[in-house]
Amino acid sequence: MDNKVEVHLKELLTFDDVLLLPKYSEVLPSEVIVKSRFSRNISLNIPIVSSAMDTVTEYRMAVAMALNGGIGVIHRNLPPEKQAEEVKKVKRFRAWMVIDPYTLTEKSTIGDAKNLMHTHNISGIPIIDNNGKLKGIITRRDIYYAENDWEPVIRYMTPREKLIVAYYPITLEEAKDILRKHRIEKLPVINERDELVGLITAKDVFNQEDDGDANVDNLGRLRVAAAIGPSKDFERRAELLYEAGVDAFVVDTAHGHSKRVGYAVEYLKKNYPNVDVVAGNVATYDGAMYLIDKGADGIKVGVGPGSICTTRVIAGVGVPQLSAIMECYKACSYNDVPLIADGGIRYSGDIVKALAAGADAVMLGNLLAGTDESPGEDIFYEGRRYKTYRGMGSLGAMLEGGSSRYGWDGSLKFVPEGVEGMVPYRGSVKDVLFQLVGGLKAGMGYLGASNIKELREKAEFIKITNAGIKESHPHDVFIIKEAPNYNKGG
Ligand code: XMP
Repeated sequence: MDNKVEVHLKELLTFDDVLLLPKYSEVLPSEVIVKSRFSRNISLNIPIVSSAMDTVTEYRMAVAMALNGGIGVIHRNLPPEKQAEEVKKVKRFRAWMVIDPYTLTEKSTIGDAKNLMHTHNISGIPIIDNNGKLKGIITRRDIYYAENDWEPVIRYMTPREKLIVAYYPITLEEAKDILRKHRIEKLPVINERDELVGLITAKDVFNQEDDGDANVDNLGRLRVAAAIGPSKDFERRAELLYEAGVDAFVVDTAHGHSKRVGYAVEYLKKNYPNVDVVAGNVATYDGAMYLIDKGADGIKVGVGPGSICTTRVIAGVGVPQLSAIMECYKACSYNDVPLIADGGIRYSGDIVKALAAGADAVMLGNLLAGTDESPGEDIFYEGRRYKTYRGMGSLGAMLEGGSSRYGWDGSLKFVPEGVEGMVPYRGSVKDVLFQLVGGLKAGMGYLGASNIKELREKAEFIKITNAGIKESHPHDVFIIKEAPNYNKGG
């Protein structure tokens, strides 16, 4: 018989199928250390990464992730120049300087200024020309003197020649000195071409919070990664991202165990030996080994576990995520290459299980899409606030350029592998991460693990039944007050 079909009847499991056994502990959750690695040369202060999705990670998310100790991966559903600009904004970010502030043009009216100030609760707006050059600044105080909303802002703004400005780059101490010396409240920051780069306000500078947990490079700048795919513009995209100062390339595809992804990893390693390359996605030992052999510095694991994914039902392909992590871990640990578990995380308990199974970090889409910092749009539905969240293989995302992730570049018609939806609004990234890391620390405390290595060593998974899953969630109670870390919808 020449039938080569192989059937693996081994049972493969995912997060809900298992629990971790509690162990004797001398470790309090508050004492555990959750430092980890994103790739061979990029460390993390928390083992959490944001997904390269157009409703999850642009520069605001990447800044928030890095400020809290993780890292964001800027999505690639935008032209290479724009993606590189997002990277630059993260690298230029300082907690005390607003990069890319809201602006108005010379044609704007007092009414426009009032609207912008009201909508974003800001009190000063730089005025720029079509080339981004600074022309003046209008403040809340200036508009008191305007009689009509239709009057042009230029009539009331402080013009460029009378403005005190700072030149980028600038240190915190230099900014403080200028503000003190001139007793001003707003300090526009420009480059050598007179183009606006940022805006410093006295309030931000003098009330600065400590960001000691931030994930920074050796020059003290926030770290950021960017997605890249093996599509036609990939060499140019790589060059622009490199020039923008990206810390890691993430070769972001639905099927990493493939020739074109292998080629992309080799190309990037050869041409940018000082930038780490994370590659994926894979879900088997062979897949992880293939990318490691090509030179990957980090492996992203997950075929079809994501909350917006339809790959498993459309293509009939995938591996339950917990088993996928365990399989890939064999290849990654042997070669000392970090593993990122990508997709399917709904609760902090899933993070504990993913790390215990061998992941060095988890990548989150759904849990971060509802935050203030995501680029998704607000939706109000039946009196509640939501934000849009869609798969990069959904029709909407593919039509806007995301098709190469799924091997459909150049096509006019697509076969989607994801859906478009919305998730509950969840507040700030900082608060969401606090709950997730808190849950992780609690889990480590139950196992007596004081760091992630010990968590892996001490972990003993037990398989549970459907009744066990039911018992694990709140039951026989009508929830009247939602917990910040428990979303019944899952
Ligand atoms: P969560 O569960 O956090 O998963 O929402 C996010 C991850 O899902 C992957 N992703 C997709 N997978 N079709 C897929 O099969 C899609 O349209 C899609 N979009 C994103 C991706 O790995 C992400 O990090």
